[in-house]
Amino acid sequence: MSMTAVALEAQGLTKRFGAHTAVHELTFTVGQGDILGLLGPNGAGKTTTIRLLTTMLSPTSGDFSVAGVRSNRPTEIRRRIGVLPESAGYPGQQTTKEYLCFHARLFGLSRPAAEQMADRLLIEVNLDQRGSSRIATLSRGMRQRLGIARALVNDPAVVFLDEPTLGLDPAGQRKVLTILRDISLRRGATIVLSTHTLTDVEEVCSRVLILDKGRVLTSGTVSEVTRAVAHRRTGHLRVPAELAVRAHQALATVDGLTIDVTGDSSDLFTITSNGAGGPAGALLNAALIAVLHADVPVLSFEVEGARLTDAFLEMTTTGA
Ligand SMILES: Nc1ncnc2c1ncn2[C@@H]1O[C@H](COP(=O)(O)OP(=O)(O)OP(=O)(O)O)[C@@H](O)[C@H]1O
Ligand SMILES: [Mg+2]
Repeated sequence: MSMTAVALEAQGLTKRFGAHTAVHELTFTVGQGDILGLLGPNGAGKTTTIRLLTTMLSPTSGDFSVAGVRSNRPTEIRRRIGVLPESAGYPGQQTTKEYLCFHARLFGLSRPAAEQMADRLLIEVNLDQRGSSRIATLSRGMRQRLGIARALVNDPAVVFLDEPTLGLDPAGQRKVLTILRDISLRRGATIVLSTHTLTDVEEVCSRVLILDKGRVLTSGTVSEVTRAVAHRRTGHLRVPAELAVRAHQALATVDGLTIDVTGDSSDLFTITSNGAGGPAGALLNAALIAVLHADVPVLSFEVEGARLTDAFLEMTTTGA
């Protein structure tokens, strides 16, 4: 848990559409300045969660607060947040600066103040060369960055972005992630983003919440979530075919390993630490040492890295 103030809190947050429960009893907190990644397969409830927290939808039951404001004061919440919705529409004929000015004025800024704000935001999202371009002429990546700028016109305490990197090429994704990191660092804002791209989360998020079928599967820091599956690390070991039996006997002496034999000559072992014999990495090392001590040369040994992707797939594909 972070020691900072709570920026976002949900308690038993539930949304039903008819008989279908899109979001079921979500309970979580996010600290000020955190970047929370909302992960989950299609239909998991990410967009519904964001729409609830941004007061676009009202919950069926449960409660939440954003930037210290309870959910029963939606207007007050909207003043303190910025939102990049899942599919935002843009007036193609407006220039990027006109668009940002317009939204800044909606929040009560005078014309000169709105223009200043627009110029500042265009720099912040790397569009300062495009201030007089019509929105219709922008690339998708540029439009996405304009949407992020728009979400910042009221200097929000919490920014919600629904799939901000969707459809962007790797360079475009990187630009957006860098901008988000800067928003968090320079403004001290809290960010909630949803994504399918696990590397987005690994690169910028301080915390992660994995949803599936409207329920929280797990939440915590990225390393906590990754560690949750790290007790089951897997290694692939290849030995000379004529020594495969001896290698197998050596592996069998190591407690806490599951051994699968594959390969044309049963010379490829997939070994998985099953969590019983201490830290996973140490167990795989012990397996390697046992084989070497049996005088079996190791032709290759490859450990599958414990990554967020593994945690995510393991949690969301079981029983699906
Ligand atoms: N307005 C609505 N009316 C009825 N059902 C809805 C509505 N909005 C969402 N749902 C349902 O709620 C569930 C969660 O949808 P949601 O859009 O929140 O998922 P998601 O995690 O954002 O998915 P994706 O990754 O595809 O964007 C889905 O089963 C969806 O069909
Ligand atoms: Mg969605």
